[in-house]
Amino acid sequence: MEKDTKTHLSVTTRTLHWTVGLLLLSLLAVGIYMTETKAYGLYGLHKSVGLIALILVIARSIWRVSNGFPRAISSQGKWLDGLAKTVHWLLLITALVMPLSGALMSWLGGHGLALFSVELVPANLDANSGKSTPINGQLAGVFASIHSLVGYLLTLGVVLHIVGAFKHHFINKDRTLIRMVFGK
Ligand code: HEM
Ligand code: HEM
Repeated sequence: MEKDTKTHLSVTTRTLHWTVGLLLLSLLAVGIYMTETKAYGLYGLHKSVGLIALILVIARSIWRVSNGFPRAISSQGKWLDGLAKTVHWLLLITALVMPLSGALMSWLGGHGLALFSVELVPANLDANSGKSTPINGQLAGVFASIHSLVGYLLTLGVVLHIVGAFKHHFINKDRTLIRMVFGK
């Protein structure tokens, strides 16, 4: 498979970057919307798409670590170069923690896991009431807090990242953004 070089970003890198990027932006938006408005009808969709994101994020992280990070096209000084690198790591790590904490909260909360209509882990139903009951309510709560807190961290990372990409494009007028689209 074509790998990244010092000057070129492979099709794999670009496809993974933009599909995972779009998925994560939608998951953040839907996640915040559904909890704010108590739109419980959206939970199943959020969880299914989130599980697909988990698989792609794992693939993306393995690809990134085995390829190394792309070399910056132009240096913005020590401080900004360091910030860009830190934010790339923050994005990769929070993008892994989000679907993992989401899946753990749902499973331990007794709600089960499904990929659309395909049941992966059945809900933990109470024999008497027939309602889903937590497997470990306390731990489920911990993962719910992590999911919410790390969601804000990811949002912060994405904002800094997009501001950085636009700064490269419109202020520095370099090919950083173009390279993530066209490869070189
Ligand atoms: C990259 C993937 C994901 C992102 C970016 C994401 C993002 C979010 C965000 C921002 C919220 C709102 C949190 C809050 O303010 O309380 C949320 C809620 C939620 N997410 Fe995710 N999520 C992801 C994956 C998952 C997965 C895989 C599951 C389960 C299988 C899941 C289950 C939930 C549930 C059940 C809630 C509602 C929690 C509540 O009602 O308090 N999420 N998500
Ligand atoms: C509209 C939104 C986005 C734009 C315009 C954008 C733009 C870019 C650009 C131009 C680069 C190349 C940086 C370089 O050459 O040094 C890049 C790299 C990167 N982006 Fe984004 N990005 C966006 C969304 C996201 C999101 C939501 C994530 C979260 C997972 C993300 C994660 C990364 C990572 C980890 C890298 C490092 C290189 C890699 O792993 O492929 N991006 N982005």
